Amino acid sequence: EKGGFEHFMLKEIFEQPKSIRDCFRGRLIANESKLVLGGIRDYSNALINAERIVIVACGTSWHAGLVAEYIFEEFCRIPVEVEYASEFRYRNPVIREGDIVFAISQSGETADTLAAMELAKSKGAIVLGVCNVVGSSISRVSHEGVYTHAGPEIGVASTKAFTAQLTVLTMIALKTALLKGTIAEQRYREILVDLENIPAKVERALKTDDQVKKIAGIYKDARNFLYLGRGYNFPVALEGALKLKEISYIHAEGYPAAEMKHGPIALIDEEMPVVVIATRDSSYDKIVSNIQEVKARKGKVIAIVSEGDSLIPGMVDHTIEVPGTHEVLMPMVSTIPLQLLSYHIAVMRGCNVDQPRNLAKSVTVE
Ligand code: M6R
Repeated sequence: EKGGFEHFMLKEIFEQPKSIRDCFRGRLIANESKLVLGGIRDYSNALINAERIVIVACGTSWHAGLVAEYIFEEFCRIPVEVEYASEFRYRNPVIREGDIVFAISQSGETADTLAAMELAKSKGAIVLGVCNVVGSSISRVSHEGVYTHAGPEIGVASTKAFTAQLTVLTMIALKTALLKGTIAEQRYREILVDLENIPAKVERALKTDDQVKKIAGIYKDARNFLYLGRGYNFPVALEGALKLKEISYIHAEGYPAAEMKHGPIALIDEEMPVVVIATRDSSYDKIVSNIQEVKARKGKVIAIVSEGDSLIPGMVDHTIEVPGTHEVLMPMVSTIPLQLLSYHIAVMRGCNVDQPRNLAKSVTVE
């Protein structure tokens, strides 16, 4: 049932070109510039007129929410807050009638996310689910929602669910922006075409596997890792660090790269591997300076760069090239080598990749 792969996690990583395609099948019709999201038809007006969006989730799903925050704010001009469901539910949050609350969850059974939704509902919010498991508790409690259709995810580490969540959230944001008139039609059309090409780009990013495995062999015994990114790649840094922690038991932290000089830079020495997501986007020049800061302190830099980058390879210890795309879609591609890196390191350390210690696939207790 692992389809010839050694672990479910690896199978699920390699399934992503298909799971992303399954996610937009019948919804994204790029040649007609159309997005059909039947799951949120009744509330699309509420979304367009919303004064505020709150996203509640945990773990990897929370990271997908952070990417969505940037996309919604950029294209829809609606203020967005992303909250850990566990904090939101216990802190008497301000929710007004008509606020939109998105709950993101692979399993649809995460206790804190479910409780956060119930709370938001009781305060008059419209609760929309982004869920993978059909018929799950979270999908039933939502007013409406969009399924991610990534197929069953067995590995405890979430991989294909994350890229499918990003696909769904991007489609919702683009559709809302178009209806609101906050995105130029030309730009909307271009991004739809780019979105349709994402499975092929993920396929190419998966080809870095052998190279990533070699890098894994060099750093498998490190005691700490730092992950840095900016803009759309900032949540990718958090996600890369989470993947490494949970399956390889190496301490890892993700940071927005510019935050380094507010503390974490003190950690950097020749023993510290620093994974920098530095693909070509609007933060490129800034992240290049951050790489220089790390190298000046002798950190070992593993950089995820866009194909054809001729500057960064000369500055760092290792580069992994991934295909370029529109920056809002980049997390779906740039996250791939980080999933592979954590996978190979965990296998080399003899860890139980699919069922890491102390963790459950769905966290149904708080
Ligand atoms: O099923 P959910 O998406 O609600 O789960 C949320 C988290 O428990 C989950 O993403 C967790 O962080 C993963 N193990 C991360 O890989």
